[in-house]
Amino acid sequence: MEFVTYEVKDRVGIITISREKALNALNSQVLEELNEAFDGVDQNEIRCIILTGAGEKSFVAGADIGEMSSLSKAEGEAFGKKGNDLFRKIETFPLPVIAAVNGFALGGGCEISMSCDIRICSDNAVFGQPEVGLGITPGFGGTQRLARLVSPGMAKQLIYTARNIKADEAYRIGLVNKVVSAEELMDEALKMASGIAANAPIAVRNCKKAINDGLQVDMDKAIVIEEKLFGDCFETEDQKAAMANFLEKDKEKKLKVVPFKNC
Ligand code: CAA
Repeated sequence: MEFVTYEVKDRVGIITISREKALNALNSQVLEELNEAFDGVDQNEIRCIILTGAGEKSFVAGADIGEMSSLSKAEGEAFGKKGNDLFRKIETFPLPVIAAVNGFALGGGCEISMSCDIRICSDNAVFGQPEVGLGITPGFGGTQRLARLVSPGMAKQLIYTARNIKADEAYRIGLVNKVVSAEELMDEALKMASGIAANAPIAVRNCKKAINDGLQVDMDKAIVIEEKLFGDCFETEDQKAAMANFLEKDKEKKLKVVPFKNC
């Protein structure tokens, strides 16, 4: 792949968008390669994914404006679908995905970060949906995910005004989970990912599915989704071993199976 790299550290997969000359902007090729990278993750071995951008300046500066500039209506819609299909794949990917946002996260960059489960950003990060300034709407899920993640009012303000916000404001409105220095970003993301990777993998996957699927339906249906996924964890090796260790009061073993971490 030309613009996407994939590496594995212990049980964490790191996918890096690497098109630094264009501040990691998403053209069709980058979208296709990202798709391929997610398809290539060994879901038996890997427990958590980190998605980041190459370089110190930009996570992703949006969809590729050069490529979009000459699209017809039909081609624009198809380009939107291409991004949306990929971002939905990330959102519903069985493993948790952490976005390590290292700088600009504009337009499609903000949107891809919102399709991840958790966002950690560097203190030089800038978020925004500048699309109306380019004569278009956000097209890779921004109108939908920003409104769900922050609030409809705040999403409308940010999208209508096309105002970019810095990391501290993104944290204040709940768009990002944590802000750290640029130097600490990958260590912090890896620390969180390793913490997740140390937990019971079936339980973690079921939590992701329960939260995602439950948010789409009313509470009566949502708790049934949870019940099924909760039940699904029983009789697994992790459940049996972790609960037995707890009951045996074997602190050593208990920590090995279910570590209580600070992440
Ligand atoms: N598409 C294509 N190329 C881009 C790009 C993008 N979104 N963002 C940056 N680049 C390119 C620039 O054209 C430039 O290339 P050259 O060196 O060949 O000229 C290179 O990256 C470096 O960019 P700048 O020189 O502009 O760097 P800067 O530090 O002066 O500014 C910036 C940085 C503020 C992020 C500025 O590049 C910028 O405003 N980029 C566009 C941001 C944007 O509007 N994103 C939304 C796109 S629309 C979208 O994403 C739609 C959707 O929802 C699907």
